[in-house]
Parts: sequence; C-alpha cells; structure tokens
Amino acid sequence: MAILKIARMGHPVLREVAEPIADPSAPEIQRLIADMVDTLADSGGVGLAATQVHVPLRVLIFHVPASRTGTGAAMPLRALINPVLTPIGEEKVTGWEGCLSVPGLRGAVPRYNKIHLTALDAEGNTIDEILEGFPARVLQHEADHLDGRLYPSRVEDFSAFGFNEELERYPVELP
Ligand code: NI
Repeated sequence: MAILKIARMGHPVLREVAEPIADPSAPEIQRLIADMVDTLADSGGVGLAATQVHVPLRVLIFHVPASRTGTGAAMPLRALINPVLTPIGEEKVTGWEGCLSVPGLRGAVPRYNKIHLTALDAEGNTIDEILEGFPARVLQHEADHLDGRLYPSRVEDFSAFGFNEELERYPVELP
C-alpha cells in the first residue's frame, strides 16, 4: 500500500473522462483501491476519485462522518466502481465544497438534493441506493471527477469562492 500523489487543477488527467472497469476483482484494481484509501486517510478528505491519483478509471472512494449524514450514523469508507448517478427530482441545494485537487480553496456549489446511485462495490456486488443531502453532494462531486469536471466549473456565484483561511476569518452566508 502507498500514499499516491494527488493531481492538482491544471493537470490534464483531471480533464479526462475515466474508463469503465471491466473486472473489479483484478489485483491491480484492488491495489489501486487500497492505495486510494491510504491516500485519502493521509489527506483528510471525504472522497477521492481515481483520476485524482492519475489513474483514469471509474472508481471512487468516499465516507461521510456522522455529523454530516443527516441520519446521525456515519457512512463508512467504501469504494464505488463504475458509479452511475441519476437525479431524483429537480431540487438543488447550494453548499460548500472543497477538493484535494484544488487545495486551500472552497466554493458554493449547487447540487441535486437527492440521487439514485448504482455501482459495484470492491467485491463486485451491485449497489443500488438513494442518497440525499451531503452524501449525495459528495457523490456528485466525486462522480464529476470521473467525467473530467472539477467543482469550480459548477460554481454559479463566485462571491462565495475563496481561500479557506480567509472564509474562516470573514464568513460568507450561503443563500
Ligand atoms: Ni474533488
């Protein structure tokens, strides 16, 4: 296992559309997931997509702490392979996002409040779930990475975009 280098905004791998994974059980995929877990633990984020570690394959990992799930229970760390997200309804919510590939910054991003997720897990089992609120936001952010998009391209109001340290000193209220 290893801590991988995270690509920063401007690196072309972050603009690539990642390829589907044919065999989730392949040793190189299992090793990639293990290394992504180490990398995320080292960096302290809630999610990481393979494109961020210079591998253009459709796998992401994420977890959500108990304070952010809305249910009171944490969502433990897991891998999603070939995830497909479908919005449920039209409602969008604007909330803060940061990204390990855009270090030090945060911005306000509108995302669908509720989504239908299908994917495979790291053992190749089918996942079919509905997610709402912050977990749905995390997944939309990570799935965007697999399509070559970073969150700044989703920001509509740049008055709430800035460096974390400054936004902590001078808080901006979201609408
Ligand atoms: Ni990100």
